[in-house]
Amino acid sequence: MKVDVLLGLQWGDEGKGKIVDVLTPKYDIIARFQGGPNAGHTIEFEGNKFILHTIPSGIFNKNTTNVIGNGVIIDPFILQKELNNLKVKNIDPSANLLVSKKAHLILPTHRLLDAAYEQAMGKGKIGSTLKGIGPTYTDKIARKGLRVGDLTSGKFAEKYESLKSKHLEILRFHEFDYENHKLDGVLFGEYEGKWFEAAETLKKLEHIDSEYFINRALESGKKILAEGAQGSLLDIEFGSYPFVTSSNTITAGVCSGLGISPKKVGKVYGIFKAYCTRVGSGPFPTELENEEGQKLRDVGREFGSTTGRPRRCGWLDLPALNYAIMLNGVDELLMMKADVLSPFDSIKVCTAYKCGDEICEESCYDVATDDVELDTIFDECIYEES
Ligand code: IMO
Ligand code: MG
Repeated sequence: MKVDVLLGLQWGDEGKGKIVDVLTPKYDIIARFQGGPNAGHTIEFEGNKFILHTIPSGIFNKNTTNVIGNGVIIDPFILQKELNNLKVKNIDPSANLLVSKKAHLILPTHRLLDAAYEQAMGKGKIGSTLKGIGPTYTDKIARKGLRVGDLTSGKFAEKYESLKSKHLEILRFHEFDYENHKLDGVLFGEYEGKWFEAAETLKKLEHIDSEYFINRALESGKKILAEGAQGSLLDIEFGSYPFVTSSNTITAGVCSGLGISPKKVGKVYGIFKAYCTRVGSGPFPTELENEEGQKLRDVGREFGSTTGRPRRCGWLDLPALNYAIMLNGVDELLMMKADVLSPFDSIKVCTAYKCGDEICEESCYDVATDDVELDTIFDECIYEES
């Protein structure tokens, strides 16, 4: 057996949760392989709307095992909130939720660092979800991070304090008033207490060596779907850098984020919207900063499920879509929200960009540097209208 993959081909928010939910009955295991609570996957179950940030979207199916893989980063506080929301509706997620021991933890101070870095960047900010994603992956790569397995190691408090004190030093250097900063409406000191309570809940979930679990499941004939978060244009390597997230959102991320060989990757489902949206900063060639953009936002209800921010909206960008299809090896394309275009008399799709005198059908985001105004590069999209 092989691991099938479902991922977003744009800047996130393509409707991944909805499709995973539809596909779930065909699979025994749904596994998240990257990202963290920056994701917001919306699912309707028995008339109720749920937004999942960390938990895989197979959680509503009793027969599905859900795995949070090693490539994911977990904020115990946010995970606890998700678990509580599900329990209110009489769903006991702990029964079929497994967590990799190697998944890294988002500490309260990671979230503070995210806020401090964004504040320091002023106009050039990434527009991060402020969930601590960048700082947590930074510590992971710098080999300083804490992992789920550390929670039960007996030395967790010590390790936590050591990393926290390094973070506080950086925050002081940035003159960031962390004591008065609120996280989810709560002052840092109080939030930290809640975080530790939530860490106890995470401790009680089943911790696994997910790479062995997944490979053994494949050997025994189980069907597995890897659920992507964010989108290919937010990938750390190939997205519109630096306006990206800090993980590999493309198919390649499944291998490192779950511990499977590239030979074990099966069918790749690529999901995109019939138009484009983006939250946060960064280039967006087909963006519509006019009434048409507003209409897309209103009809498509394009407001962030994680941050509530209005999403930037624009026409479908085919060079960018082709780029994502190439990077991911997409086998099946799924187009979402085409109905949002119904009220438009005519619609456009971008088929190429005009960069100076040159017409370019390839994605050329790497020209986005500080000294070049992004708008002037991408002003000239070439469209087909119908
Ligand atoms: P789902 O899984 C849309 C964007 C942020 C910001 C950039 C970096 O719901 O599709 P980060 O918090 O990761 O450091 O932010 O990436 N972003 C998303 N945009 N959907 C998401 O996830 C996103 N996750 C991050 O807005 O521009
Ligand atoms: Mg989202």
